[in-house]
Amino acid sequence: MKKKVLVTGGAGFIGSNFCNLNCEKYDVVALDNLFLGDSENLNSAVKFIEGDACKLSDLKKCGEKFDAVLHLAGTSSAPMFGGDGFVDGYRNSVESFCQTLKFAHDSGAKKFLYASTSSLYGNNPMPLVETQMVIPPNHYACTKFLYEQCARCFTQQFPEIETVGFRFMSVYGPNEEAKGQFANMISQFVWDVARDESPVIFGDGEQFRDFTNVVDVVQGITRAIEFDGKLGSEIFNIGTGEFATFNEILEIINEAFGKNVSAIRIPNPVTEMYVRGQEADISKISKTLGYAPTVDLKSGIRAQVEQLNFKKIRETSSDRLKKSGKILS
Ligand SMILES: NC(=O)c1ccc[n+]([C@@H]2O[C@H](COP(=O)([O-])OP(=O)(O)OC[C@H]3O[C@@H](n4cnc5c(N)ncnc54)[C@H](O)[C@@H]3O)[C@@H](O)[C@H]2O)c1
Repeated sequence: MKKKVLVTGGAGFIGSNFCNLNCEKYDVVALDNLFLGDSENLNSAVKFIEGDACKLSDLKKCGEKFDAVLHLAGTSSAPMFGGDGFVDGYRNSVESFCQTLKFAHDSGAKKFLYASTSSLYGNNPMPLVETQMVIPPNHYACTKFLYEQCARCFTQQFPEIETVGFRFMSVYGPNEEAKGQFANMISQFVWDVARDESPVIFGDGEQFRDFTNVVDVVQGITRAIEFDGKLGSEIFNIGTGEFATFNEILEIINEAFGKNVSAIRIPNPVTEMYVRGQEADISKISKTLGYAPTVDLKSGIRAQVEQLNFKKIRETSSDRLKKSGKILS
């Protein structure tokens, strides 16, 4: 019999890719309040429920029994905590996490899997490894730190449910249009170049990230769901172990389009705690779950360019520069 899997934030970027890639393997239900998601991201084989993961009544609409629950809902990037977003950002993330975790346990799920973040590492020495001490550099990372600690305590209290966290590196791939200004820089640069507009690069463009295709993020999570051994409340990096600079990314995107759009370079407006570089150590997930990245950057970006739907593009980095003169990263 197919496993029954609930995905909160299922119509979002990573959630929709997980649901679409796994809708034959699992009986998948996607819950999303469409704050940043789009139900059109989902295949027809995925059961979609519009609702709020903070509300038990909405979680119950998804079903009574689940084998695994994947929690991806929440306030999904640091800039969303700015200004008026501070209290609501915490409330949405913490409340949806606790409510979904309790629901997962009560629904008989053996595994609760959740998104943490590589942002927790800040500017730690590279390669970034799970055993490093982390001091969350911003409110967004604080919520993920809380997730990790809360999950550990929950499994300690209720060992019948394992709680597995993933520190995703910088994830790119299709279905990010609904995130607009909060999308990954690869998506934003693709949308810019598609419209022959100059992407905006902070500083010299030599900052680098461990860009990880969403297909491999889904691979890592799926391996954890399938894993037969004990995982307890383990935390895993999901990345590639490689990195590319923003300048290199723009080159690859131009190549994929057959264009030569140049960047607008502005002084970096993020003056505190800006992450200069990121490169993951992926030995833990590789040894434990047999994970290995399968999508190289050039093929992943080419595929994203081929799948691009112009009608869905909402806002590019150059739109925002025009509007405000500064951009959130
Ligand atoms: N994309 C990345 O590079 C990345 C990196 C590290 C961690 N993460 C984490 O992974 C998770 C998924 O990220 P994503 O990029 O797919 O983000 P996303 O914003 O596209 O997806 C989150 C989804 O959750 C929904 N949502 C928010 N609050 C909700 C609530 N209370 N009830 C129901 N639905 C709700 C949103 O509408 C959205 O569709 C997030 O927790 C994010 O913080 C993402």
